[in-house]
Amino acid sequence: MREDFSVPCKPVARLYAPQIGDQSITLRSKNGLLQISVLAPDLFRVRITAGKKFSQRPSWAVSKTDWPHIPARVKVARNMAKIETKQGRVVVSLADGALSVSDKSGNVLFTSIPHKTGFEKDFCQAAFSLEDDESLFGLGETTATFNKRGLIRKFWNIDVLGHSPAIHPSLRSLYVSIPFAISIRNGRAAGLFWDNPAMQLWDLGQLTQTDWQMRTASGEIDLYLFLGPQVSDVVERYTELTGRMPLPPRWALGYQQCRYSYETRARVEEVAHEFRKREIPCDVLYLDIHHMREYRVFTFGKTFPKPAEMIAKLARDGFKTVTIVDPGVKDDAAFGVLKRGIKAKAFVKSPKGGKDYLGKVWPGVSRFPDFLNARTRKWWGEEQSFLQKNGVAGFWNDMNEPANFALPTKTLPDDCIHESDFGRVNHAQSHNVYGMQMARASRDGALAHTPDVRPFVITRAGYAGVQRHAMIWTGDNSSVWDHLSDAIQMFLNLSVSGVAFCGGDVGGFMDNTTPELLIRWMQMAAFTPFFRNHSNIHTINQEPWAFGAKAEAICRRYIELRYQLLPYLYALFAEARRTGAPIMRPLFWHYQNDPAAVAAGDQFLLGADMLIAPIVKQGATARAVYLPEGDWFDYWSGSQFTGGQAVLAHAPLETMPIFVRAGAIIPMCAIQQYVGENETGVVNLHLWPGGHGNLNWYEDDGNTMSYENGGILERAITFKDGELVFGKSAGGFTSQVKTWRVILRNAERAGKVLVNGKKVAAKFDKQTRVLAFEIPNSPERINAKLL
Ligand code: GLC
Repeated sequence: MREDFSVPCKPVARLYAPQIGDQSITLRSKNGLLQISVLAPDLFRVRITAGKKFSQRPSWAVSKTDWPHIPARVKVARNMAKIETKQGRVVVSLADGALSVSDKSGNVLFTSIPHKTGFEKDFCQAAFSLEDDESLFGLGETTATFNKRGLIRKFWNIDVLGHSPAIHPSLRSLYVSIPFAISIRNGRAAGLFWDNPAMQLWDLGQLTQTDWQMRTASGEIDLYLFLGPQVSDVVERYTELTGRMPLPPRWALGYQQCRYSYETRARVEEVAHEFRKREIPCDVLYLDIHHMREYRVFTFGKTFPKPAEMIAKLARDGFKTVTIVDPGVKDDAAFGVLKRGIKAKAFVKSPKGGKDYLGKVWPGVSRFPDFLNARTRKWWGEEQSFLQKNGVAGFWNDMNEPANFALPTKTLPDDCIHESDFGRVNHAQSHNVYGMQMARASRDGALAHTPDVRPFVITRAGYAGVQRHAMIWTGDNSSVWDHLSDAIQMFLNLSVSGVAFCGGDVGGFMDNTTPELLIRWMQMAAFTPFFRNHSNIHTINQEPWAFGAKAEAICRRYIELRYQLLPYLYALFAEARRTGAPIMRPLFWHYQNDPAAVAAGDQFLLGADMLIAPIVKQGATARAVYLPEGDWFDYWSGSQFTGGQAVLAHAPLETMPIFVRAGAIIPMCAIQQYVGENETGVVNLHLWPGGHGNLNWYEDDGNTMSYENGGILERAITFKDGELVFGKSAGGFTSQVKTWRVILRNAERAGKVLVNGKKVAAKFDKQTRVLAFEIPNSPERINAKLL
């Protein structure tokens, strides 16, 4: 496929012979077929093929295909066909196939450009008009701007060592491809997903400012159009279509330490010891590629004698061990994993002669498991159980674009063969799903071996729907300030692309970090879903203590804050699993009618109630923070601000600006050195007065799969007009909370407190303006009045 839009396509052309189905309409043209169907009142699917019938091949991305029947009206007139639900409609012109998608009030959300929508020999293309005031978000993992309007993006998973925020043509791709975008215009949101795992090229108004042009190298035009109108409606529906993230083990929310590589057992144990000695909380330690015997997957090398003993010892100190797992299997005839893989016919085939394809990765000449095949995935899972038997608690799937050092294209040849679950396909047609299918093999394999333990899988590569199998970390960034600021927009856009659990290398991977950069990065990342420090081989040490006492103290403080916020964070993870709502949210998630909030890509919300404004410039000790409507408190000083304006926040090195929404209920717990070290049963409920507060309190056992079978506890906690109400607990899990310690911030006086009508003792501290009292927990409704 030529990577530009200069070659025109053969357009859809005049449509005729309508076939009206129950919830669909299919039309013919001399150039192919067009079909519009209704999946939900706010979700339409538009398919166009140059062939005589549509492909029967299932999708790798879509996990829901059994949509309930809903009322839809289909109408064909002389010049147009229309399909309508109570939420909106798609109208197609019979003259030229032009599509117009509008909401129930007639607001046009998408207008196709008919002469730019169609096929050519080696590509298919669709184009829509862009309006002047339209902003675009999502697209999964991208560098550069927050708003993707004006970007050219290639969806082709690639190992980009050292990605750059600059929009450089050679860096149009990253490791992850999610061809899904959210459009926001005049406070209304809509979404578009083109489901095709071959190469896609999108121009979001760069070459022609008024056109959103999309091209894929093969297959059909297969678009899902989401009507919104809220961003949350679009993402909820998109994640209903492509699946939501399962819950990770609770420890995966803790701080994690990595490096390429901790090369020996002694060094790993030393790092573990330092964490505990210095009382810097940490849950996870990583073993990068040096743990293996000459990079042979599923082995431990000489520098890791008695790995099971080491891992068990670390576990006693509260550390979980995660190992890197790369797809390339060393082509060594004596290597057991290879031998069994060959026997299982598990590898991707060369186009010629049906032999296994040989590429090159860390182990040298290697074969690539065909993860698109269920048998291969099962075999891989069985091999992976070697690590579980040694006590490994999670799998870090790297290099799974897949990376290949043997070719300038850095991946498998286009014409390699996959014997996929859905039949034989060449690599180019399915490239972008390889990494996601590896993650699937890893997750399913982990569950096959230990069915009641929550898997923890990290992946570098992915495609739409990857969130069902793994979380995403954003690969090889650099220890430069630009990459700290770029990380914010990357995570926000990933988060609204279905991948709520995401994060990046804290401190930067390539090159040496500096104390100031590490501090600022730690401060920001303490509020991102995934919180892992990682650094490249030959770089200086990057652990929280590597830069002296002051840097260490600041890092510790923010890591501790993260642990204190665990109940708040965990409730957000549960919400992400339930609805697809991100954990780390762009301001437009809650304030899409406010153009200043839509544009604010250098700050973010953690849930609905905390606003995080990272410092991303060297030497900066203050920054402007945009506060959306409502009242906000400075988390550190307690000062109150009215929203709808930017304020100047002071940020000496030890402070990153954090604001809390008036009305917020923020549950916090005691600092622990690792998750579960010392659960006191006391939850501090910080109430910030002024507005209305809602907290969806959530608990489960944190480790097993029982959350899928009712082993959860949910309860609504609300705070309004001085009244704190705990709804009745629901679910099969027994709360571990013994005491709610209510902490009213910015209290004006030592008021009276009535709990279920009875007066309870409350302490007022004039200096800190905190009013505190305790409520013993009970599953019944609790009402606390602050008079
Ligand atoms: C890749 C990964 C990086 C890892 C390195 C060695 O560059 O992105 O995180 O440390 O490989 O395994």
